[in-house]
Amino acid sequence: MKQYFKVDEWKVIEEGFDPAHNKVAESVFSLGNGRMGGRANFEEAYSGDTLQGNYVAGVYYPDKTRVGWWKNGYPEYFAKVLNAANWIGIDISLNGEQLDLAKCKVLGFRRELNMQEGYLKRNFRARTATGKEVEVEAIRFNSLVDDETGAICYSINPLNFGGYIKLTPFVDGDVVNKDANYDEKFWDEVAKNTWDDGAVLQMRTRKTGFEVATGMKYHVALDGQAKRIDTQPVTREKYVGAEIRMNIEEGQRITLYKYAANLSSQNHPKEDLVELTKNVLDAVCHKGFDTMLAEQAAAWAEKWKHNDIVIEGDAAAQQGIRFNIFQLNQTYTGEDDRLNIGPKGFTGEKYGGSTYWDTEAYCVPFYLATAEQKVARNLLLYRYKQLGKAIDNARLLGFNNGAALYPMVTMDGTECHNEWEITFEEIHRNGAIAYAIFNYVRYTGDEQYLADYGLEVLIAISRFWAQRVNWSAQRQQYVMLGVTGPNEYENNVNNNWYTSTIAVWCLKYTLKVIDDVKRLDTGKYNSLTSKINFQDEQECGKFKDIISKLYLPYDDNLQIFLQQDGYLDKEQTLVKDLPETDRPLVQKWSWDRILRSPFIKQADVLQGLYFFEDDYDVETIRRNYDFYEPRTVHESSLSPCVHSIIAAKLGDIDRAYEFYLRTSRLDIDDYNNDTEDGCHITSMAGTWMSVVQGFGGMRIKDGALSFSPLLPAGWEAFSFRIGFRGISLKVLVSKNEILIKNQSNQTLTVNVYDNGYLISPSSETAVPIKPLH
Ligand code: BGC
Repeated sequence: MKQYFKVDEWKVIEEGFDPAHNKVAESVFSLGNGRMGGRANFEEAYSGDTLQGNYVAGVYYPDKTRVGWWKNGYPEYFAKVLNAANWIGIDISLNGEQLDLAKCKVLGFRRELNMQEGYLKRNFRARTATGKEVEVEAIRFNSLVDDETGAICYSINPLNFGGYIKLTPFVDGDVVNKDANYDEKFWDEVAKNTWDDGAVLQMRTRKTGFEVATGMKYHVALDGQAKRIDTQPVTREKYVGAEIRMNIEEGQRITLYKYAANLSSQNHPKEDLVELTKNVLDAVCHKGFDTMLAEQAAAWAEKWKHNDIVIEGDAAAQQGIRFNIFQLNQTYTGEDDRLNIGPKGFTGEKYGGSTYWDTEAYCVPFYLATAEQKVARNLLLYRYKQLGKAIDNARLLGFNNGAALYPMVTMDGTECHNEWEITFEEIHRNGAIAYAIFNYVRYTGDEQYLADYGLEVLIAISRFWAQRVNWSAQRQQYVMLGVTGPNEYENNVNNNWYTSTIAVWCLKYTLKVIDDVKRLDTGKYNSLTSKINFQDEQECGKFKDIISKLYLPYDDNLQIFLQQDGYLDKEQTLVKDLPETDRPLVQKWSWDRILRSPFIKQADVLQGLYFFEDDYDVETIRRNYDFYEPRTVHESSLSPCVHSIIAAKLGDIDRAYEFYLRTSRLDIDDYNNDTEDGCHITSMAGTWMSVVQGFGGMRIKDGALSFSPLLPAGWEAFSFRIGFRGISLKVLVSKNEILIKNQSNQTLTVNVYDNGYLISPSSETAVPIKPLH
């Protein structure tokens, strides 16, 4: 863990420039608006260590798979999150000398991410190799209001010289992906066009044929006064720029306003892209930077109104949660049902694809409570629409009869992952997709979803489980062999408890939903079963047989669920005995050593206890938590939040707080030494869960909200806002009470601990906090 950034409740602040931390800062200060986003690269040239990244949602490249030993069933391609044209660039030349912080003496440097209003601001003072001193201020944002655009206000002040300053705003499509498998370039130029105060470059992705027009428009002010400028276009392959030369005096301030737009063929006809981009640029330029920035602040204020979490008395914890909520909102707005939430969002290339089980297991609860119902529904429909491909994927592996295996990683439903122990074996992902359907219906009460879409997905998933298990004559039970559980530090294990448990749960839930839909809408049920050729009696019979006879490993001595067969054969060392210098294990140990060790990458058995807590008594959960927590290294960002929620449930408030801080400040403090690759966006929804479900104890029981709050020792109070079935409420937990404000015009029924309360419209109820025993 490092402390690169200053603690502030609404901002992330970096003071002083350390080139060694630049890539971490580029990730943390990333900007996005759901439609486009990018890393916090500098506008001016930078020859130091940097990862350039600008991304356009949904635009990807299928990079040909590269593996050592090709195995049948591998997908041909891995969908890469594609580095797209750089629209932020502004080359600066000071009397012929290029401004490049890597070659300057940096005399002062400050970067600040304003999360309240949604912009990035950078100030620096630098001395070039020939002694020219400049002061620069750059403000940049990706507009939430005009979500295909971004804007930059870049000011330079020559402090000890006068003369020619040349600014060259540009769009550069000649970009690469660092993670390209064959060092190929992924974009070809289609067209370019320059005019007096702007330019557009249209590029096409190889293979996928997406076209994206990236345009810019600019104007200049001298000491705050608009200045007419003559520009000189500069073009070359995949590049459009415009040179602006100004002869200025020492101490004068020159400001360049650069507006940019990214329009994709996913949303517009290819042949109109250039024209439409120009129109969009004209519109935002006409609005002007200040108006756009004011609109940006207002749009963010509206977002915060619905999903802010306020923590009183602990600025580091406050900054952490706001950073997580901010990044989630930057990544996915829910307005486009073709999009999803990539583990790195718009902050880096790593992981590729846009959709992992992370969406269903971690992100759905956040969007359910903080956005309109259609947002979570769209996330579910995304998978429904890809059901055909999930069935194809299972068929490729040898399954039949409409069994579906959803991909481990995907962009469009096709599997993109290609490591056999994960692609073929980390099949628990299917369970998370079923669980999200259950979670959505439990939260919203939208039973109709099950009849319209949910049941079809559930049957396909259950058919997969029914074929994936086999009968063991020796055990006289079904077993599930050759799987990888959520703990990826163990591969190809037999009878992973989590995977088998979620499989049984899926089968049970499918049977329940079959009964419900049959009862509520027999016609719909019959047409579904004939569409998918579901042999009701026979297939349900098989499901029931597996439910009652699937082997789930358990240790009688320790009275815990066993992560998988043979787990206790491992040498049982604990994380506390690992030298700090050995961590993170994934960076310090060989894979062989990791596989043979007892160390657990992320919640595995505990993930199951979190999902299905109502099926287990508190003592069972405690025994398993006490056993597995000391063996977990939390080297997946998805891990600490689950441990935090379970610790809170068990009343272990100090550990719950420790895990909370770890999950919420994971990227700000670079806990796992990997933030330079990008931020861990999907786990940020887990951070939200650890406050609302962990400290707030929020659950849905029998269609009603319930809370059992706890307050971490150092906090004065915390509050969160959620929406639930058309009601919006604010929950404030302080030292003595929980105060629930019903901010809607409907009566709200809630349970606090074990008692029910009716809260009238626009009123509030306070309930005393139960002390911890
Ligand atoms: C985790 C997976 C997760 C993936 C993307 C991996 O490190 O082990 O569970 O789906 O990251 O976040």
